[in-house]
Amino acid sequence: MVTIKSKKEIELMKEACKVVAILYNELEKEIKPGISTWEIDKKAEKIIRNLGAIPAEKGYNVGIKGIPPYPASICISINDEVIHGVPSKNKIIKKGDIVSIDTVALKNGFNGDAARTFIIGNVPKETKRLVDVTRQAFFEGIKYAKPGYRIGDISHAIGEYVHSQGYCVVREFQGHGIGKQMHEDPGIPNYGKAGKGIRLEPGMTLAIEPMVIQGKPDILELDDGWTIITEDGSLAAHYENTILITEKEPEILTIL
Ligand code: MF3
Ligand code: CO
Repeated sequence: MVTIKSKKEIELMKEACKVVAILYNELEKEIKPGISTWEIDKKAEKIIRNLGAIPAEKGYNVGIKGIPPYPASICISINDEVIHGVPSKNKIIKKGDIVSIDTVALKNGFNGDAARTFIIGNVPKETKRLVDVTRQAFFEGIKYAKPGYRIGDISHAIGEYVHSQGYCVVREFQGHGIGKQMHEDPGIPNYGKAGKGIRLEPGMTLAIEPMVIQGKPDILELDDGWTIITEDGSLAAHYENTILITEKEPEILTIL
């Protein structure tokens, strides 16, 4: 069911989303060569809790037998890890890495969801372009995030843009509605047909999240039940914001 948020609920959503925006501004200074993803996770948890929120990914249960609840506060995926990388003391950030972080903060009963890919030190031009294209794909998508368009228009714009740049989108994971639940209807694939899907209406809150692979689109899940990697070992990037559909242009709630 797609939920339309009331004025009051939108105010609460904005507060949850602001936590994630502040978190990324703070984390940017911390993600340096030598730090482990476990340490980043601990710092993130502290920042989120100090802002009166809960890291909603911690203990998140997909309800599939054999898959353990998500064990950390945030997801940290390095290089060929696409999404859901599990923080570990053994994973040390080094120069030349790209580090994708995905966070959901729960505050006042509402969720805010955003992801960023950070570049550590110098990387080849082509790596920088992957990260830039992934971010831009989000902005290409939200050109259609307003009344008069449908979900498929957003999906189509993201997919077409990414492919025009010579990259692939991940097909197995998608953006989503968000609110009291981390994942609400509708699903928002990063590819699709223009003019298809439900109509966009003011009061919808959506997490739009291009996941882009430099090489082939195929992915694998590691034995931890969470970490998703590219099958061909090529790099992947992720960029996500929670947005609000209004009468006019969408509001991006997870950027300050
Ligand atoms: N934040 C992810 C999303 O964008 C979901 C992460 S799954 C979790 O939808 F287990 F880590 F929470
Ligand atoms: Co999301």
